Amino acid sequence: MRHHAFLLSTLAASATAQRCDSPSPDIECSAVPEIAAYRTTSCTPTHIFLTRGTDEPYPGRLGNITSLVCTALGGDSQCGYEDVSYPAANRYISATSWCESAATGVRNGQTQLKEYVARCPASKVVLMGFSQGATVTQDLLGGGGGPLFDLCTQEANKGLDRGQAPGTKAVVTFGTVRRSPSEPYSVGAGKDFQPEALRDGELKVGIDQYAGVLRDYCNEGDQYCAKSSSPLALENHLKYFVQYQQDVVDWVVKTVKGSKI
Ligand SMILES: *[C@@H]1O[C@H](CO)[C@@H](O)[C@H](O)[C@H]1NC(C)=O
Repeated sequence: MRHHAFLLSTLAASATAQRCDSPSPDIECSAVPEIAAYRTTSCTPTHIFLTRGTDEPYPGRLGNITSLVCTALGGDSQCGYEDVSYPAANRYISATSWCESAATGVRNGQTQLKEYVARCPASKVVLMGFSQGATVTQDLLGGGGGPLFDLCTQEANKGLDRGQAPGTKAVVTFGTVRRSPSEPYSVGAGKDFQPEALRDGELKVGIDQYAGVLRDYCNEGDQYCAKSSSPLALENHLKYFVQYQQDVVDWVVKTVKGSKI
């Protein structure tokens, strides 16, 4: 917690140039200020659930892509986003901090998603998550849980039946810790390497229900999603948003526009 308090006070002191994601606090993670206009839980034709990465302040590095998607879809009458509310705690706080944080994200994310879909059945839903937030996103849709980092065991959870989430039109994850490699939905030079933890068995069956709407990005040299590649460098885990920003915006916009509710 102390670590978070430190980060938050640092961020407050430099609101225009937020820096985060220890242990590389110098890598930029701020989002464009335009994102603020899109934050809402009201029913808009397209609604995006964002799940931030470890130690990122809300909305995290995915804020820019979200803002660009909503602008391309016609602005705040057409598109909004909400953050999946969870600690995004790092694994250095305690042996169980990461697993507990991710499990909380899954619970909250499922509750938020079900609540939104019940209230706004005509909305198209998009989910995006980075790093721990990518794991949470895949877990909440397809089921999750299991051992991680030789540190802890994340509580098992059931996924959402595809039938329960028919409005889900696009899902984009980046650098997930638990991953199924070499899938039709895997994108990036790291896709065939082994991740920190395998998404297999029931969890793979669960996430495969979403295969038609999922893009799972993994860079070679990303120590989480492509742990068996080398050399590993944190930079490879953090550069998705520079590398793939336009790609992702184009795909999400095209997919949403091309889909019916
Ligand atoms: C978001 O966009 C701003 C403005 O272009 C840029 O300064 C910042 O680095 C971007 N953040 C990310 C994570 O891409």
